[in-house]
Amino acid sequence: MAVILISGGSGLVGKALTARLLDEKHEVRILSRNPSKGYPVPSYYWNIEKKEIDGEAFHNVDHIVHLAGAGIADSCWTEARKKEIFESRIKSIQLIESRIIKKGIRLKSFVGASAVGFYGMRTSEKIYKETDGSGNDLLSDVCVQWEKSYEPFINYSDKHCVIRTSVVLSREGGALQKLIPLFKAGFGSAIGNGRQYMPWIHPDDLVSIYMKALFDPEYHGVYNAASSHTVTNETFSQTLAKELGKPYFMPAVPGFILKIIFGEMAGLLLNGSRVSNQKLLDAGFKFKYDSLESAFHNLIKGA
Ligand SMILES: NC(=O)c1ccc[n+]([C@@H]2O[C@H](COP(=O)([O-])OP(=O)(O)OC[C@H]3O[C@@H](n4cnc5c(N)ncnc54)[C@H](OP(=O)(O)O)[C@@H]3O)[C@@H](O)[C@H]2O)c1
Repeated sequence: MAVILISGGSGLVGKALTARLLDEKHEVRILSRNPSKGYPVPSYYWNIEKKEIDGEAFHNVDHIVHLAGAGIADSCWTEARKKEIFESRIKSIQLIESRIIKKGIRLKSFVGASAVGFYGMRTSEKIYKETDGSGNDLLSDVCVQWEKSYEPFINYSDKHCVIRTSVVLSREGGALQKLIPLFKAGFGSAIGNGRQYMPWIHPDDLVSIYMKALFDPEYHGVYNAASSHTVTNETFSQTLAKELGKPYFMPAVPGFILKIIFGEMAGLLLNGSRVSNQKLLDAGFKFKYDSLESAFHNLIKGA
């Protein structure tokens, strides 16, 4: 049994990872801004702005997972929101680092979240590998700085992994949860020209990747966490409508309208490239849900 501390463990990924870790009899603790909410595992307070963190969270800790961060697509990218997106990820890990140094902790592993947005909000036929360079926009800047803030952990842990995550499909939160009611009401449609790629992953597979990153000595460095079956936005939308048994006839949502509504953030919806998961496959990782149909079947019909 190992002791794992998860920052932002109350979120979509954190809850799924916690459940798997508990199933495997590990001890899980989470760092939260609101630790009194009643979580299934002990939760510890931190306040990133005030640089406050409950030192008890670090007692005998073996592994740390950093998931905390203000939702990228939760609200428009005002200057204040951009600052929060950066600081909630970077100042938070720096606060954790300060505790690690103060307490002289040596970790068995450190795993940090990042996003496939590292490669930039652009539509291209290129299939991005972990060795490719970053893009040149807000999201890639976030990912670059986020990943850079993990570098010191190479010195504090026996191993170190970064998970560049694609869109996590879940009914509990994120994009799919928002899309299902729209599609059920018959308003499902593509976005923009529909040709942008949408790398995605089923939460069970993402959790399995985190488990490998935490415990498998063969896993080191950066991994793209995306299924092999990357589809365009149009195919994604058609497949979702079909799975829900709903018609698909609405015109695509024009890109210029999204730009008016969401400003710079519209780029997230209107662009997308493919990413390679070959590094995971080469490490022997087996996806449980590698086709979009199988993922939807499971998530929507429980099959
Ligand atoms: N879900 C996806 O599709 C996806 C895709 C790519 C990358 N990622 C990244 O993977 C990580 C985990 O994703 P997720 O879907 O589990 O995220 P999530 O559901 O939004 O949860 C993130 C957690 O971070 C904490 N948090 C939120 N705002 C914060 C702030 N301003 N300061 C400090 N903590 C804050 C919250 O915990 P408390 O409220 O308890 O403090 C929240 O539960 C995130 O960093 C996300 O950007 C996710």
